[in-house]
Amino acid sequence: MDWIEKELESIEVKNLYRKRLLREGLRDFCSNDYLALKEHPEVIETVAKVLREYGLGSGASALVSGYTIHHKRLEESLAKFKGTPCCVLFGSGYLANIGTIPALVSEGDVLFSDELNHASIIDACRLSRAKVFVYKHLDYEHLEELLRGERAKYRRALIVSDTVFSMDGDVAHIPTLKKLCKEYHCMLYLDEAHATGVLGNKGMGGLEEFGERWDEFMVIMGTLSKALGSYGAFVCSSEKFCEYMVNKARSLIFSTSLPPAICAGAEKALEILQRESWRVRKLREISYHLYARLRNLGFEVIYHNTPIIPIMVYTEAKAVQIRDELLKKGILLQAIRYPTVPEGKARLRLTASLRYSEEEINLFLDALKVI
Ligand SMILES: Cc1ncc(COP(=O)(O)O)c(C=O)c1O
Repeated sequence: MDWIEKELESIEVKNLYRKRLLREGLRDFCSNDYLALKEHPEVIETVAKVLREYGLGSGASALVSGYTIHHKRLEESLAKFKGTPCCVLFGSGYLANIGTIPALVSEGDVLFSDELNHASIIDACRLSRAKVFVYKHLDYEHLEELLRGERAKYRRALIVSDTVFSMDGDVAHIPTLKKLCKEYHCMLYLDEAHATGVLGNKGMGGLEEFGERWDEFMVIMGTLSKALGSYGAFVCSSEKFCEYMVNKARSLIFSTSLPPAICAGAEKALEILQRESWRVRKLREISYHLYARLRNLGFEVIYHNTPIIPIMVYTEAKAVQIRDELLKKGILLQAIRYPTVPEGKARLRLTASLRYSEEEINLFLDALKVI
């Protein structure tokens, strides 16, 4: 397989070579543990207790013998939190998207997808075999133009959007998406991976942020792996929808379910989030603080009142160079490049988190200043 070496060389020449970095000993400024819940003592204690009782793995898929009271309880808590009748767990956000979207639309149907949607949505759209129309990022006039011209030609239709976009931190306008869905008879799929625990006063997500409610035609997907500090994902909608997922979503049916201890830990994290909504407010304060200090230092920073605060450097080579300089100083801030973001739009994806002390922020900014 000599071709592999050549492929790798061509990736490296473009400064697009990816490597995994050992995190130990580094100060991490790019994780999605926004609310500092992944190491919360109550979460750890809960996980340890359930781990001793159930062991590590779940042993099978949810449809065989991998469904426990911890899965069920977490689904019920998440459904309540998202204001929907029902919820189904998946092994990860990637699995949730590639399982749910193709179960909702297939050949003869149509998908309308924001151009900056997460890669798992792009893959899900391809897998579905529905006709896909990509609308310009957050451009709802373009979306409506496509709906006007194309919707009527197909059977079922699904509009799909990240609620908080993972690499820019900007937010979809849910009221407009809902309105368009009603007008053009579409279903709406919102990926709330980065909205859960972040948007709304209580961190409930996009619906709370915009003062909206769930409606029958809406599916709300979210992950446990970001603000909830755990692992896995969920999809919320009606009871019938959940029943249908259990029968149709291939990544749920043919994949081992989450370990029970992970579910218990996520449920505890959700309980802490609901009990301590100050975390959500504090996250916004820290996000703004980081943004303002970077801007004052003259950096070009994208900020949309969310904890995703990319520092734009544009060229791939420069992004890699800054990342490597920071690594020498014990700081982990990943260079995000094509194909995660468009070519020539490389950035350092800084994220805000309740984990940072003021001293650490000062250290980080001092390191960045002299690069
Ligand atoms: C918007 C979005 N959707 C889905 C995913 C996939 O989630 P997971 O990491 O749980 O597979 C991610 C995370 O990387 C994401 O940012």
